Amino acid sequence: TFKPLVFSGVQPTGNLHLGNYLGAIKRWVDLQDSHDCIYCVVDMHALTVMPDPADLMVSTREVTAAFLAAGIDPKKHIVFNQSRVRQHAELAWVFNCIARMGWLNRMTQFKDKAGKDRENASAGLFVYPSLMAADILVYRATHVPVGEDQKQHLELTRDVAQKFNNDYSDRIASLGVGVEMAVGDETVSGFFPLAEPLIGGPATRIMSLRDGTKKMSKSDPSDLSRINLVDDADTIAKKIRKAKTDPEALPSDVAGLANRPEADNLVGIFAALSGTDRETVIRDFGGRQFSDFKPALADLAVARLSPITDEMRRISADEAYVDAVLKDGGERAGVLAEETMRHVRDIIGF
Ligand code: ADP
Ligand code: NA
Repeated sequence: TFKPLVFSGVQPTGNLHLGNYLGAIKRWVDLQDSHDCIYCVVDMHALTVMPDPADLMVSTREVTAAFLAAGIDPKKHIVFNQSRVRQHAELAWVFNCIARMGWLNRMTQFKDKAGKDRENASAGLFVYPSLMAADILVYRATHVPVGEDQKQHLELTRDVAQKFNNDYSDRIASLGVGVEMAVGDETVSGFFPLAEPLIGGPATRIMSLRDGTKKMSKSDPSDLSRINLVDDADTIAKKIRKAKTDPEALPSDVAGLANRPEADNLVGIFAALSGTDRETVIRDFGGRQFSDFKPALADLAVARLSPITDEMRRISADEAYVDAVLKDGGERAGVLAEETMRHVRDIIGF
């Protein structure tokens, strides 16, 4: 079977927010004790929307600093930026030839990000899921901790792996590079693992503070909609105070959060920040007004985030250190990626 290996990434597109932290980065930190992990600043994905080159470099360092500030250990694990390891792009091309147009056409993130003017969206944005599959499979990673919004892309990654394994099954067998794995009740042999998403806990989908039906996002034009990792204590408190809510008190049990997206979101944020669950938060705050709950949430958010913010600033100031981490991580990732690609080239006949 495949050796357990964790891979995940965040785009350097500015405005790292509480959703990125609770949905992804905080969980990456927790996985470090039990798994080998590869954490990537996915700058090639950011290129799909053509950021200003200077901004892209600043943002790449800032996201790296956030990983380190949150507690990721770049010596025990691997931290790097995607564009340093050319094998991601090489395998993405192979996967563009494996993935079907129909599969990519179904991706809701493309529809959301391209908006109404699809003709003018970059082709890169359309094939983004092939590159994401390559990011994961170039290391033959088995586990991918992400937010709920990435679930569909992970399914496509599994489809790509499975189609590659099937299309090239004879070559994989004759070269002797297949690995046994369980698929349902069967044991099959393949070159790529069917990577599993790790989506769980109270923070799989943090919503906008201004609109409980939209996810908290870097690209939301309203800064009040999200808590940024660089926000200071006063800003965090202000954003939580102004967060949209309904006029009712908090319910006395979790079932009462149904159809109350704003209340559910704030309770979920409290649960994730305190490392508990919605039940525990409702046990403590059920029946209380938002005027009581919001200040408690603000205090908690500041207590959890401000040490990370301070550390992020300290690390960001040391550009040479951040660059050295990325260079070292890139070299180590490159060795692993090349090992996979040597086999892939053999398999496909290059
Ligand atoms: P964004 O979606 O804000 O552009 P990325 O695409 O770089 O950010 O996502 C980085 C990680 O953060 C992914 O694992 C994604 O699932 C997670 N994530 C992003 N937004 C949220 C959110 N609102 N709630 C939970 N997780 C999120
Ligand atoms: Na996302």
